[in-house]
Amino acid sequence: MNFTLKIWRQNGPQDKGQLVTYPVTDISSDMSFLEMLDVLNEQLNERGEEPIAFDSDCREGICGMCGLMISGDAHGPERTTTCQLHMRSFTDGETITIEPWRAAAFPVIRDLVVDRSSFDRIIQAGGFISVNTGAAPEAHSVPVPKPNADRAFEAAECIGCGACVAACPNASGMLFMGAKITHLGELPQGQPEREARVVSMVGQHDLEGFGGCTNIGECHDACPKGIPLDVISQLNGDLRHAI
Ligand code: SF4
Ligand code: FES
Repeated sequence: MNFTLKIWRQNGPQDKGQLVTYPVTDISSDMSFLEMLDVLNEQLNERGEEPIAFDSDCREGICGMCGLMISGDAHGPERTTTCQLHMRSFTDGETITIEPWRAAAFPVIRDLVVDRSSFDRIIQAGGFISVNTGAAPEAHSVPVPKPNADRAFEAAECIGCGACVAACPNASGMLFMGAKITHLGELPQGQPEREARVVSMVGQHDLEGFGGCTNIGECHDACPKGIPLDVISQLNGDLRHAI
């Protein structure tokens, strides 16, 4: 397969940046989107041109590093991570536009790489959970109802990729934050600090420059892990209770 790529090039945080057009050839339909970019970078290296900076780590859909805006869709046309997206999802000869996440709280570092440390600071603001130290507790001494355990696991699937923010017209981080609030709030261990946690995390979210939620739902549609929208309701419920 051959493609025409329009890729955002930005030589550092202060640079204005622009879309630059590159042809890329000899792409297998079984390659992942990141492998296609690897091929392009090899072709750029051979021509003595600067390779394109982009993030990746696990390439297995679990680390959340690889977010790209692909022809206007966060992570591209399938509901998966960019590293798990394959070129068979595109048409031979297609023109594909590739941009970094666009959000004030995710400033561009270079080309397609953004700084998502604002998410880390929200997690840090959530603080710790209280657990008793000492001997291991008796198994099943703290029963967790199955529906609560299932919901906690579902929320814990969030990989912090930031697609929800990139897809949201308000650049809100509420789906991400709601997932974190929910996965601790459903478990007994998350109860002692539950109210302080939500107040602190929401304060940090707003401080970082993320927008508010206006129930548009683009975040859920873009989320590669299918985090449900009602984690935002749970977050708002906890916040109302806490203040
Ligand atoms: S809620 Fe979904 S889209 Fe948002 S950071 Fe978590 S996994 Fe990514
Ligand atoms: S590189 Fe880890 S989720 Fe894509």
